[in-house]
Amino acid sequence: MIKIAPSILSADLADLAGEISRIESADFVHVDVMDGSYVPNITFGQGMVKTLSRLTDKPLDVHLMIERPEHHLESFMEAGASIITVHPDATRHLHRQLGRIKELGGLAGVALNPSDPSVMIENVLDLADLVLIMTVNPGFGGQDFIEGQTTKIAEVAELVAASGRNIMIEVDGGVNSKTAEKVRRAGADVLVAGTYIFRAEDAEAAIRTLRG
Ligand code: DX5
Ligand code: ZN
Repeated sequence: MIKIAPSILSADLADLAGEISRIESADFVHVDVMDGSYVPNITFGQGMVKTLSRLTDKPLDVHLMIERPEHHLESFMEAGASIITVHPDATRHLHRQLGRIKELGGLAGVALNPSDPSVMIENVLDLADLVLIMTVNPGFGGQDFIEGQTTKIAEVAELVAASGRNIMIEVDGGVNSKTAEKVRRAGADVLVAGTYIFRAEDAEAAIRTLRG
C-alpha cells in the first residue's frame, strides 16, 4: 500500500492544528527544514517538529535541506522526528550520518536531487531505511514535476531490490493527480505532496487520489 506524506510547507500555518486534522488518513507528516544556504529558502527548525509532535501521533518525516546536518541530528530526534533524511552533498560522511540517525533511534533517509545519479546511494544501502527522490529542485513548494526523474525512480527501485533490504522509496516534488500514477508505477512507496493536498478543498479526497 502506497504511503502518503503531506508536506506542511504548503499548510496554513496560522491554523496548524486545523490543518493536521484535515489529513487524518495520511501516513506520515513531511517537514521540510531549509537553512537558506543548502537551498535558497528558510523554513522550519526543531521547534516546528516539537509543535507537530504535540499535534499528531503520525511519524514525522523530517527532510533536512541544510548544510552539515550532522550538527542537528540529535536535536531533531529529541524534538520528535521519526525519519530523518539528509542530502549526500550536505555532509562529508554520509554513511556515518545515516548510522548516527539509526543509533539515535530514527529511520535514516538519503535524498537525491534531480541532478544526482541513482548510484550515489549504492554504498549506503546497508544503512538506509528510505531513499527520497526529488522530482523538483529543493527549496520551494508548488514547482512543476521534472519528467525525466521517473527513470531514476525505477533505477533506485532496482538497486533497492538487489540490496534485499526493506527500504522505502519516497518521491517529493510536484506530486499531484497527474503525476502520481507514473511515480507509483515506477516503484515509489511513499508520495510527498504539499500543494496538491493542502490547497485542495478536500484534503482527504486528494490523499485518496494519490494512493490510486
Ligand atoms: C521542496 C520540498 C517538498 C515540497 C513539495 O524542496 O522538499 O517537500 O514541500 O511541495 P509540492 O508538493 O508543492 O511540490
Ligand atoms: Zn521535502
